[in-house]
Amino acid sequence: MGVTRRTLDKKKLQGEKIAMVTAYDFPTARIAEEAGAEILLVGDSLGMVVLGYDSTIPVTLEDMLHHTKAVTRATKQSMVITDLPFLIAHLSTDEVLKSAGKLMQEGFAYGVKLEGGEPVLEKIKVLTEAGVPVMGHLGLTPQSVNQLGGYVIQGREEPAIKQLRFDAKAVEAAGAFALVLECVPEEIAEEISNMLSIPVIGIGAGRYTDGQVLVIHDLLGIGGDWSPSFVKQFAAVGKSMQMGLNQYVKEVKSQTFPSEEHVIHLKEEVKLALYGGRVDGTS
Ligand code: KIV
Repeated sequence: MGVTRRTLDKKKLQGEKIAMVTAYDFPTARIAEEAGAEILLVGDSLGMVVLGYDSTIPVTLEDMLHHTKAVTRATKQSMVITDLPFLIAHLSTDEVLKSAGKLMQEGFAYGVKLEGGEPVLEKIKVLTEAGVPVMGHLGLTPQSVNQLGGYVIQGREEPAIKQLRFDAKAVEAAGAFALVLECVPEEIAEEISNMLSIPVIGIGAGRYTDGQVLVIHDLLGIGGDWSPSFVKQFAAVGKSMQMGLNQYVKEVKSQTFPSEEHVIHLKEEVKLALYGGRVDGTS
C-alpha cells in the first residue's frame, strides 16, 4: 500500500514535513517517487509548463486524464492527486462526480484537488461523501487569475485574512483531507496550519505549513528564465538539456555522430553474400 491520507495525517502529527511536487509524465513521476515525494500532483499548471498556454484556463479534463494515466503508470508508492480543471467544480453535481470518477477510475488518481472556498464547499461535501478524497486549494487560485487581476499574493489585509480563515475551516469541515495554500504570508499560513487538523501544504506560504509543493519545472530549472521569488531552483536541467541538444546538432552537422561505436554492421558472411566483398554496399 502506498501513501494514503492516514500516512499524511500521521506525518502532520509527528511534525514530519510532507514533500509534494507536480508531475505530468511517466519518467518525471518515476524520478519524483524515487526521490521520496509523498504526493505527486498532476496540476493544471500542465497547461503552462507543458502545453504552452499562458494560463491554466484552457486545460481540459481530457488533458488531465491523459497525463494522470502517464503518472499513475509510473508510481507505486506516491499518492497521485489530479486537479479538476477550470469550471468543472462549478458545474452540476453530476458533472463534478463524473469528472472525478473518470480521473479515479480511468486515470487511477487517488483523489482530486479543487480550487476555492465558499462557492465549492457543497461539491467538496458531495465528492467526499461519494468516496472521492478531495484536496482543497486556497490563497492564490490560478484558475481565477483573471478575476484576481493577476498572480498576486493573497491574504495580506484583514478582510481577506478573515475570509481565508473561514474558507480553510469550511473546506476542512466539508471533508477535504488536505489543503494547498498558495502565495499567502507566512504568518497566516502558519496560523491556518495550526488551526486545521488536516495537512496544509504550502507553495509560497513560508516555512511552517505541514509540507511544501512546487511545480517540477520551476524547481528543476526547466523552461523560462523567470520564476516566482518563492521558488528555489534545485537543479539546472533546462541548461543541461540545451547544452546536450546543441552538441547533438553540432555533431550531426559535422558528421562526428554517429561514430564507429554507434554503428550496427552486417556480419561478414552476410556482407559477402550480399555484396560479394564490396564494402560500399553497391551491387
Ligand atoms: O497546478 C498546480 O501545479 C498547482 C500547484 C501550484 C499547487 O495547483
